[in-house]
Amino acid sequence: MLKNIKPEIAYRLINHGPVVLITTVDKIGKPNIMTLAWLTVVNSEPPLLVIAMGEQAYSQKLIKKTKEFVVNIPDKKLIKKVLYCGSVSGKDTDKFKRAKFTAINSQKVKPPKIKECFAHLECKVINQYKYGDVVLFVSKIVYADADDKLFDEYIKTDKIKTIHHLGGGWFAETGKRFKD
Ligand SMILES: Cc1cc2nc3c(=O)[nH]c(=O)nc-3n(C[C@H](O)[C@H](O)[C@H](O)COP(=O)(O)O)c2cc1C
Repeated sequence: MLKNIKPEIAYRLINHGPVVLITTVDKIGKPNIMTLAWLTVVNSEPPLLVIAMGEQAYSQKLIKKTKEFVVNIPDKKLIKKVLYCGSVSGKDTDKFKRAKFTAINSQKVKPPKIKECFAHLECKVINQYKYGDVVLFVSKIVYADADDKLFDEYIKTDKIKTIHHLGGGWFAETGKRFKD
C-alpha cells in the first residue's frame, strides 16, 4: 500500500546527499564554517553544483559578497562539530576556534578548507537565484582534492562513513559500495 506524504515533508525522501561544511571568508579574510545539507550536482562538464542557503545564515551574506566558498566533506566521526557549526552563527563566533577545526589554504579561492575533512571542492559562484529567504548559488568547482586512501575515483565507503541528513535530526551513514 502506498502512503500519502505531505508535499512539505516529501523532501525527506531525497534529502540525504552528504552533509557538508561550507567555508567562506568576510572582506578582511576572517573565515566561517556552516553546516549544509541542501546541495546537488548540476553538471559534470563543466563541473557545476548548487547549494541552497537561507537568510538566517551569515554565510549567505558572505557568499553574496565574495562569490566564493569551499564544500568540505566531513565523516561521521565529526558529527558533534557538524551539528555545532549548524546551530551557531559565525556572525559573532569564531567557529574554527570553537569547533577546533584547522584552516588550510585553498588553491584557487580565498576561503580556507578544513584539514579534518577528507575532501574539499573549491567553488566560484556563477549565478544566484532568490526564492523567498533562500538563495540558490549555482557554482563552478574550480579545484578539488580528497584523501587518496579514501577516494580512488569513487568514495571508498567501506573505509569512510559520510553523514546523510534524513531531516528532523535523523541521520544515516554510508555502507558497503558495489558495482552494477
Ligand atoms: C544537519 C544540518 C543541515 C543544515 N542544512 C542547511 C542547509 O542546507 N541550508 C541552510 O540554509 N541551512 C542549513 N542548516 C542550518 C545552518 O547550518 C545554520 O543556520 C548555521 O548556524 C548558519 O551558520 P552561519 O550563520 O555561520 O552562516 C543546517 C543545519 C544542520 C544542523
